[in-house]
Amino acid sequence: MEGAINTIAKIVETKDPYTSGHQQRVSKLAETIARKMKLPQEKIEGIRISSLVHDVGKISVPAEILNKPIKLTEIEFNLIKDHSQAGYDILKSIKFPWPIEKIVLQHHERLDGSGYPRGLKGEDIIIEARIIGVADVVEAMSSHRPYRPALGVDAALEEISKNKGILYDPEAVDICIKLVREKGFEF
Ligand SMILES: [Fe+2]
Repeated sequence: MEGAINTIAKIVETKDPYTSGHQQRVSKLAETIARKMKLPQEKIEGIRISSLVHDVGKISVPAEILNKPIKLTEIEFNLIKDHSQAGYDILKSIKFPWPIEKIVLQHHERLDGSGYPRGLKGEDIIIEARIIGVADVVEAMSSHRPYRPALGVDAALEEISKNKGILYDPEAVDICIKLVREKGFEF
């Protein structure tokens, strides 16, 4: 299972160098948050594994868009948004012991229904996806992207704290901030 997951991760990372490392760092942070939230072991494992492939759907986005060095147009951004559904479609046929395809599908859903692809709200978004959603934003904002320099950890923590309970799971946000600020968590 681990080998299959690593292979899937490698395929998308080959196409999108910015996904390389991103999925692993999100996995480490999301797993640590889940552990501190005292989720059952099998959910923690599901979070760790699905984070490692959460952006696999980017394989279906043209490389010129993924690596575009300037701000994306709305149409291009919509193509990127398709990666949640594309990831679901890629993963759904493998029988994993965790709901990986569902977690991947929902990792950009937000508590207030403003996320994608379904606009799910609150607890309709599974906890695994709510945790990865927080870890994903923090890692992405802390890192450099083709179209912008890194915004930094401070800006990332500010974003999740400002939108705690609005976009992001409040408990996951509190734990994430504590991990980075007080426990010196590093990716
Ligand atoms: Fe994503």
